[in-house]
Amino acid sequence: MKNIIVAICGASGSIYAVNLLKILLAQPVRVHLMVSEAGRRVMAHEVPGFADDMAGLLTEQGAIFHEDACLRLYLPDDHGAGPASGSFAHDGMAVIPCSMNTLASIANGITANLIHRAADVTLKEGRKLLLCIRETPLSLIHIDNMARAARSGAVIMPLCPGFYFKPRTMDDLGRAMAERAAVHLGVLSDSFSQWGEESFDV
Ligand SMILES: Cc1cc2nc3c(=O)[nH]c(=O)nc-3n(C[C@H](O)[C@H](O)[C@H](O)COP(=O)(O)O)c2cc1C
Repeated sequence: MKNIIVAICGASGSIYAVNLLKILLAQPVRVHLMVSEAGRRVMAHEVPGFADDMAGLLTEQGAIFHEDACLRLYLPDDHGAGPASGSFAHDGMAVIPCSMNTLASIANGITANLIHRAADVTLKEGRKLLLCIRETPLSLIHIDNMARAARSGAVIMPLCPGFYFKPRTMDDLGRAMAERAAVHLGVLSDSFSQWGEESFDV
């Protein structure tokens, strides 16, 4: 059974996180979820019916849970939680959406909250770290921080969905990007989001 860490930060794009959680929890996956203070604030703004009960929120958003799926929520200031330690074995961490603040902390080894710390140990242990960043335009500081994080092994995945698959709804956009992240986390197979004739039928 896979263990995946998902961190939601205070960048715009809660829809991507909701879609990734729905994909992960439809599989026999243990999801370790952490939401920053700002992440809660932005989610409350962007997700209709946002509530502290994440499982309830996901159900409302149409999630279908695998019978072996498991969702564990951590407080962002819980520095004693399992994911704060390098001994916590997991199969990958996605920060989605990743704010410029959290990117800067991770790129510079600053561990002010559990999200930064979990990302820090993920990198030092050589595990997969996806940083699904959202900001535009980018300053050189942002670009330098992305380069620093990438040099330490992070995968920088800007939240820029493609349009060649002809999305019709916002949810299509959110799901397409989340599927790309799930492929990188090894939860969906490589062929899932591959270019192919069938995917482009109108
Ligand atoms: C509605 C709203 C949207 C925001 N969107 C972004 C964004 O897209 N990218 C970003 O880097 N910060 C964004 N911010 C600012 C972050 O929330 C802020 O920098 C915060 O300190 C990030 O904290 P965190 O990294 O702990 O989540 C947004 C804030 C609000 C209130």
